[in-house]
Amino acid sequence: MRSIISFATFSLATLTWAAPARKRADFLPDGQYFPLANGFPNPSADQIKQIQKQAFGTLPNGAPPASISTDGLTNLKLLALNELFEVAFFTELVYNVTNKLPGYDLGYGHEYVLDELNAIVAQEQLHALNANGALQKFNAGPIQPCKYSFPVTDFQSAIALAATFTDVVLGTLQDVNQIFAKNGDDGLVRAVSSVIGNEGEQEGFYHILQNKRPSTLPFLTTGVRDFAFTAIQSFTIPGSCPNINTIPLKTFKPLNILTTDIKPVTQNLKFSFKKADAGVADWWDQLSLVYINQQNVPVVKSLQNTVVHGDTVTFEAAFPFDEFEMNGLTIAAVTKGAGPFPNAPAVAQAAILGPGLIEIS
Ligand SMILES: *[C@@H]1O[C@H](CO)[C@@H](O)[C@H](O)[C@H]1NC(C)=O
Repeated sequence: MRSIISFATFSLATLTWAAPARKRADFLPDGQYFPLANGFPNPSADQIKQIQKQAFGTLPNGAPPASISTDGLTNLKLLALNELFEVAFFTELVYNVTNKLPGYDLGYGHEYVLDELNAIVAQEQLHALNANGALQKFNAGPIQPCKYSFPVTDFQSAIALAATFTDVVLGTLQDVNQIFAKNGDDGLVRAVSSVIGNEGEQEGFYHILQNKRPSTLPFLTTGVRDFAFTAIQSFTIPGSCPNINTIPLKTFKPLNILTTDIKPVTQNLKFSFKKADAGVADWWDQLSLVYINQQNVPVVKSLQNTVVHGDTVTFEAAFPFDEFEMNGLTIAAVTKGAGPFPNAPAVAQAAILGPGLIEIS
């Protein structure tokens, strides 16, 4: 068995020689990822068997609950939308690594990484099929895939992105389970919880590839469906999602984090947004920057040094790392009003801009 530690060190070393991007000619033109060669998102029974082999496990084969709440249906739709996006991402990543595209040749460790990525892509396909299958069972239309574009051109940035969006999923599935529980959809909680574990295993793998500790926090950062819904759309080509309009969730305007390579120290962070996205300027003194981290009460800070430059507004806000040990994922949002917000959903309710995603570990 190879040593994970030396493997991690090695992969970091190799990742620094990422070559400039090259456009693929033979794969996924125009961001069109589906259907895959295995028929996904509509595989035949035989093709499902193949996906299950590749995933090292099966779809749940018990009967789903007899009924579901309206909010529960929204959960399933968001899950399907998210898993379809993940399948697109990991399919492309497997392609890039398999073909050793510039920036994706891992040298030693190549087979080990590829083996796991092939399992992940099939596991994500089963997550998507499970969510869309349940939607069909409840007579709601399955969510259809979009066209996508991912802002990565080398292995290291692809894994960093995967680690970030997987963290968002790990938080959002907490929200999903909470909403199922609240609405009497308890029959769906067990399966979603099993997916949380799977995504957590994946997250540990991405951390090792980045030479980070596999386990980040004692209590992972929570999320809210609207933030995940907005974040997913930053990877879809506008107008390309056939039935995203059937998902009744909020899409926020973008909040950019200008500070890069954020260190685990108390500091001011710099942000920006588009002037028009925050409404009229007389409101701005009523805006707050809110951080969601771990299972803690959201942290509210005021906007400082606000500067308007053309149609861009930049500002700073205190980031109280030391006070709250703000490791792992932090979700930042700009809200109207200063709360106090008892929990993450209350932040989403008052949010205008977000989510800004901060990763420290
Ligand atoms: C795969 O490589 C292409 C070409 O560099 C790049 O445009 C794309 O974003 C990469 N995708 C992933 C998931 O790494």
